[in-house]
Amino acid sequence: MNSVTNTYKITVLPGDGIGPEVIKQAVKVLDKVAEVFGFGVEYNYADIGGIAIDKTGDPLPAETLELCKKSDAVLLGAVGGPKWDDLPLNKRPEAGLLGIRSGLGVFANFRPAKIFPPLKNSSPLKDRIIGDNLDILVLRELTGDVYFGEKKRTVYDGEPCAYDTMIYRKFEIERIARLAFETARKRKKKVTSVDKANVLEVSRFWREIVTEVAKDYPDVELKHLYVDNAAMQIVINPGQFDVIVTGNLFGDILSDEAAMITGSIGMLPSASLNSKGFGLYEPVHGSAPDIAGQNKANPLAAILSVAMMLEYSFNMKKAAEAVENAVLRVLQEGYATRDLATENSEVLGCEEMGDAVVSRIIG
Ligand code: IPM
Ligand code: MG
Repeated sequence: MNSVTNTYKITVLPGDGIGPEVIKQAVKVLDKVAEVFGFGVEYNYADIGGIAIDKTGDPLPAETLELCKKSDAVLLGAVGGPKWDDLPLNKRPEAGLLGIRSGLGVFANFRPAKIFPPLKNSSPLKDRIIGDNLDILVLRELTGDVYFGEKKRTVYDGEPCAYDTMIYRKFEIERIARLAFETARKRKKKVTSVDKANVLEVSRFWREIVTEVAKDYPDVELKHLYVDNAAMQIVINPGQFDVIVTGNLFGDILSDEAAMITGSIGMLPSASLNSKGFGLYEPVHGSAPDIAGQNKANPLAAILSVAMMLEYSFNMKKAAEAVENAVLRVLQEGYATRDLATENSEVLGCEEMGDAVVSRIIG
């Protein structure tokens, strides 16, 4: 083992459903990377979501948020499940997730949908549509929009009704737009901003501000698309996209769509950063309660989230690549979890997939 030069403090929030089992594999991989690349990792576990409700009545206990704030990065599994479905919105497991995102101020959610070549057959899209190097980055604004605007049940014209408020403040649009252009500069220099400016005032405002910010980035091409058209373009010509920047709600929807074209939503990692570069890392897939605890889940999105942590939070690009290469090799050798399996795959459980990646990490 190399001598340890640095120790990173990581708060681990396994959460509900398949969260704990995929996070266990991700931690195994991170331990191996730390050993190979010579750094230390200290883990502190805490509760979020349903398990936190069961233990404390609160989906985001104050201690959990405090612990996260004192760490170098946060690794989160998933929250939610049928057991908690009937609770009011602000008491549900999802409230814990939204609470931690806003509590940490992680407004910039990077969801990279990249195709691993061995998974081309797992994609629902035809080969000729996927092309060769599909690599879309959905940059989703994560702490504003209808997710955080005022919501209410009330009575309107004598009729019971409900509303949610879609709202963006100028600085929120500016900072995500700026980040989109900065990010595109390091990629293919194309930004597609997605909105619904033909109907929504908030989207007209979004479009104006993105256009204004674009003036500082004349080297980056900017295109605006309505969200319905964007949803269609992603399945008919995904190769046209580089960075897609959009609000919280549209980003939620489009990132699931973009994830699926890479073979399975079980492949999509994410990084959420705040203005100081602090990061929360989580797989995009959610808690999948139907397969929880059966060793069937795909841990690769959680494992790839660790790769994002290494790159974004610890600036260890080589270590991040070691994780991605290990994943690629496992897939090239024909191993797959159930969600990825085609007729020729050798199907592995969650645990075995984690081991397969660990054994292929090389420095
Ligand atoms: C996601 C999820 C969450 C969201 C849910 C679980 C609240 O769908 O991370 O994409 O809507 O942001
Ligand atoms: Mg989602």
